[in-house]
Amino acid sequence: MGTFPEFLQIQGLTKVFPNSGASKVVLQEVNISLDTYDSIAVVGPSGCGKTTMLLITAGLLPATRGSILMNGEATSAPTHKIGVVLQEYGLFPWKTANENILLGAQMRKIRVHEKTLAALKKELGIEELERLYPHQLSGGQRQRVALARALLLNPKLLLLDEPFAALDTITREHLQNHLLALFHNRNFSFVLVTHNIEEAVFLGRRIVVLNELTSGIQTVIDNPDMGRPDYREQPEFFRQVLLLRHTLKEAE
Ligand SMILES: Nc1ncnc2c1ncn2[C@@H]1O[C@H](COP(=O)(O)OP(=O)(O)OP(=O)(O)O)[C@@H](O)[C@H]1O
Ligand SMILES: [Mg+2]
Repeated sequence: MGTFPEFLQIQGLTKVFPNSGASKVVLQEVNISLDTYDSIAVVGPSGCGKTTMLLITAGLLPATRGSILMNGEATSAPTHKIGVVLQEYGLFPWKTANENILLGAQMRKIRVHEKTLAALKKELGIEELERLYPHQLSGGQRQRVALARALLLNPKLLLLDEPFAALDTITREHLQNHLLALFHNRNFSFVLVTHNIEEAVFLGRRIVVLNELTSGIQTVIDNPDMGRPDYREQPEFFRQVLLLRHTLKEAE
């Protein structure tokens, strides 16, 4: 050995769902690695296994075969080192914004200092919303509350499942910028699942394209210019968007 393991390694990940008689192979021998302070966008057709991969990485769903290693150690249960933002936010409707943000910490019996909580809410611009319930919040506000909950325990890895899908274009870009700023200010790595081509190019240092037919990785696109706040205005951005668009058509 003697080498430094990569921060996150998904090795030989296979998931088979036993669907009434005929079992369904959703992921087959998927290998992905991620460095510290690095990001990956995962794209692919609906039903190809993106959420499944994220849930297994978060320790919320068991793998059929393969392993998830963080700094060389196997993870198979949820840990405070991994923050998760699920598809549709995963907020509890009967809890206020504040209670939702504190939920993960409470479940793990971790005390959160008032100052830490206040600073995070300020960072995300949700200071005024703490007593409101999810149905009283806009989609963008709900999304920020879900992000705050995932960030509260300073995770080393953030897993985001189509976090901005339900938002209008401008709010969406605003929150993409926000995520990028958080990524630069706080030291974490993230995996972002998205259907949106521009979002994948703006936020993924590498873009992993999953293929439904083979249940595996079709292509990995390197995207070294990711991280520039003005990337959307650069010619390279448009080239990458075009490349990803073509690749996705082949993955269908
Ligand atoms: N608990 C389960 N039991 C049986 N089959 C499941 C289960 N969860 C997911 N599947 C199946 O696995 C496949 C992949 O599902 P998954 O939710 O990972 O897709 P996805 O890529 O996230 O799709 P989308 O882009 O629509 O969110 C689907 O065919 C789905 O029906
Ligand atoms: Mg999904």
